[in-house]
Amino acid sequence: MTRAHLDKQPQDVAAMFDDVAAKYDRTNDVLSLGQARLWRRAVADAVGAVAGQRILDLGAGTGTSSLPFLEAGADVVPCDFSIGMLTEGKNRHPELPLTAGDATRLPFADESFDAVTISFALRNVQEHEAAMREMLRVTKPGGKLVICEFSTPTWTPLRTVYTEYLMRALPPVATRVSSNPEAYVYLAESIREWPDQPELAAELQRAGWTKVAWRNLTGGIVALHRGFKAP
Ligand SMILES: C[S@@+](CC[C@H](N)C(=O)[O-])C[C@H]1O[C@@H](n2cnc3c(N)ncnc32)[C@H](O)[C@@H]1O
Repeated sequence: MTRAHLDKQPQDVAAMFDDVAAKYDRTNDVLSLGQARLWRRAVADAVGAVAGQRILDLGAGTGTSSLPFLEAGADVVPCDFSIGMLTEGKNRHPELPLTAGDATRLPFADESFDAVTISFALRNVQEHEAAMREMLRVTKPGGKLVICEFSTPTWTPLRTVYTEYLMRALPPVATRVSSNPEAYVYLAESIREWPDQPELAAELQRAGWTKVAWRNLTGGIVALHRGFKAP
């Protein structure tokens, strides 16, 4: 697979998110046609966090993806490398322990989390296979990983309509609702270039995750991949 459109340097990715931070959550709701809330609920159910567990939410942005874990009584640590997103998150959710860190060099000890989750962020990590290995390093033996990411619709007509929507409608809509429409052109391109469900599962296995499986949401527009660290 070519990563021609995914070769953005990490500092450019961080700067891009710094730029969109203020309007990020609202733009998300508009562009996902309200589906984002359902996807977040599915992630929370897949992680199944319970009170007292320590959960890493990587690429947490403004912390919105961390809130279900906080509500479940878990000890959630949202981590991101965009200072703009973290600052916005701190203003909105002062109760969250937002932490600066790069997914490929996590600032956490080995085996320190019961579960690690990453929503709509692994696709943005330039060396995402290194991030898969880092997530394994910080997970306790027997612990779980849940990845929520845009994926490939499984039904051909939906795939065709979706590709058209992404490539044609998303950039002009983004121009109206986002402070940085270019970021949404990158979003559309990066979704097209991203590995499909079986390929991402194979990468997770190569990184050392076991019992890897996935579940499609909204016909495969989004997929949840899960894996476990061997006990
Ligand atoms: C689309 S946002 C997702 C935010 C949040 N998880 C959500 O579901 O709304 C992607 C986030 O990944 C972060 N990110 C991208 N590459 C990263 C890296 N190498 N290390 C840490 N965070 C990264 C970006 O800064 C951005 O905040």
